[in-house]
Amino acid sequence: MVRETRLSPDNLIHPLFVCPGRDVVRPVPSMPGVAQMSVDKVVAEARAIHKSGVPAVILFGIPERKDALGSEAWNDDGEVQRAIREIKERVPGLVVITDVCMCEYTDHGHCGAIKGGDVDNDATLELLSREALSHARAGADIVAPSDMMDGRVGAIRAALDQNGFSDLAIMAYSAKFASAFYGPFRDAAESAPQFGDRRSYQMDPPNGDEALREVALDLEEGADIVMVKPALPYLDLIWRVKNEFKVPVAAYNVSGEYSMIRAAGINGWIDEERAILEVLTSIRRAGADLILTYFAKEVAKML
Ligand code: PBG
Repeated sequence: MVRETRLSPDNLIHPLFVCPGRDVVRPVPSMPGVAQMSVDKVVAEARAIHKSGVPAVILFGIPERKDALGSEAWNDDGEVQRAIREIKERVPGLVVITDVCMCEYTDHGHCGAIKGGDVDNDATLELLSREALSHARAGADIVAPSDMMDGRVGAIRAALDQNGFSDLAIMAYSAKFASAFYGPFRDAAESAPQFGDRRSYQMDPPNGDEALREVALDLEEGADIVMVKPALPYLDLIWRVKNEFKVPVAAYNVSGEYSMIRAAGINGWIDEERAILEVLTSIRRAGADLILTYFAKEVAKML
């Protein structure tokens, strides 16, 4: 009766990886329980997620072909675009969010166009806008830019507004750190950078004030929901962002955070179910309204 923090399926967003083909379920070795799935399988999984009580999914695409600019990202017949259309048609009521980024689509694995050995921020804004628009045309409810280019929320907002999508919301990965905890995801999304790292565009882990400045910029540019990522090593920033801005805050309980609990659970080293609930509750207690987590469907069932 006196419990202060509640964890509910309503707070959760389930990530899904969409790959080419039919009838494909390709388990991700470093993320037991997570698989890449072709559109038909993704739709079935989306239905199960919706049935569990989780209100939203976020889609990541693994394209058939990659190139220097990541042009499959704005192919209206791409994996993600087809998955959006199918889910909206067959699982009405489920909120479809899309990750907007180039790293899954570029052959070099970076989150934007390359010039002189580094990502060209401003040239990338145009590519991200094309991708977001393509997701909007397919029927996405929310687009979620995760690239960390400066000015991308404003650019995407303008592109959406000019093309009749002024009602479409933006969930910005605002305070996204250059983290070791994305390792398993890069297996899942086949998006590891082929040279260098992401430290010229993702944030330096010691910087908390800078995270607040990044959030302020994204809100000015039109973000509706802001995100802190990863969640557990940055609980203080979830708290600070929520208290400073009083806007909807999402936190990404990322792949490495997932795999640590899974691995310990599989080995019998911790009580997995209790650990999952404790971790997700701590993220809520820190101030997150929404949690992106690979545990979402499972947790909804526990709850
Ligand atoms: C794309 C992106 C990443 C994640 C979400 N979107 C990886 C990265 O920046 O390398 C990570 C999610 C996770 O680890 O679960 N830029």
